[in-house]
Amino acid sequence: TQLHEFIKSLPKAELHLHIEGSLEPEQMFEMARRNGIALPYSTVDDIRTAYAFGNLQEFLDLYYAGMSVLQTRQDFYDLTYAYLQRIHADNCRHVEIFFDAQAHTERGIAFADVIEGILNALEQGEADFGITSHLILSFLRHLSEEDAFKTLEQAEPYYDRLLGVGLDSSEMGHPPSKFERVFAKSNALGLKLFAHAGEEGPPIYVYEALDILKVDRIDHGNRSLEDDALVNRLVSEGMTLTVCPLSNLKLCVVDDLKNHPLKTMLDLGLAVTVNSDDPSYFGGYINDNYIRIADALDLSKDDIVKLVKNGFDGAYMSDARKCEVM
Ligand code: ADE
Ligand code: ZN
Repeated sequence: TQLHEFIKSLPKAELHLHIEGSLEPEQMFEMARRNGIALPYSTVDDIRTAYAFGNLQEFLDLYYAGMSVLQTRQDFYDLTYAYLQRIHADNCRHVEIFFDAQAHTERGIAFADVIEGILNALEQGEADFGITSHLILSFLRHLSEEDAFKTLEQAEPYYDRLLGVGLDSSEMGHPPSKFERVFAKSNALGLKLFAHAGEEGPPIYVYEALDILKVDRIDHGNRSLEDDALVNRLVSEGMTLTVCPLSNLKLCVVDDLKNHPLKTMLDLGLAVTVNSDDPSYFGGYINDNYIRIADALDLSKDDIVKLVKNGFDGAYMSDARKCEVM
């Protein structure tokens, strides 16, 4: 349709993307083959069939298992470069990427191999596709505060190449307050702060992300809608929420895209953006997310423009770069 073409034509920014969640089944087989790793699947179709999740944890179990094929610096490079190549086709011009360092270091992979593979691909992607990018070190919240501190220390040689730190993995039972001190330390180092909150967790987790962690963006934030005072605050602070429609559908945060709160959020004046989260696992990259949610909620051209603009406003880009792409 005309709206689909409009969406495809617009330059976009993506602010919520886990690079390990862009690992396509074909790539998983290729890396398993070259690294001599046995997979519990015999075909690409087997993998896609297995991607049926009842909640966040069911997804995370397959996500952490899948990424075990990532072994070498070249693997991290190839993973990242393939993602950039793919979003170039979606006219995505700027991306801020999370990586789950602990999910690799706990398997014995060197931190340097992970981050240098990713950073080298980001650099090459800017040269080849003109996509600007930032990298965010995301702490796994099911692991300890001490483990997060250790990971922040490992990142020391790269502080000037990191935009910030994030917080992801199993939300329930792991409130933001568990990471107060490591976020304070990250802040003191000049790093920006991001946290997943209100995906499955209650509104109080969003308050904690704001008040205790002092985050610069909220990832997801859907359940903020249960608390009017919280909504008013997020609106008045202009806090960016990185919403992920197809992720919410696949993880049963919503039962149907027609019941997704994105349009309500927009109409309330929340600074919502559209993102893909883990595109390989959730069945779509950034344009698919825009198109599917636009169709389900009957979004207008103005809604789409607002969402795209929110993406650039919520991004860490120079004004000059914004002028160049928008
Ligand atoms: N890790 C990767 N994707 C995630 C998500 N949507 N929520 C929490 N942790 C994640
Ligand atoms: Zn996420």
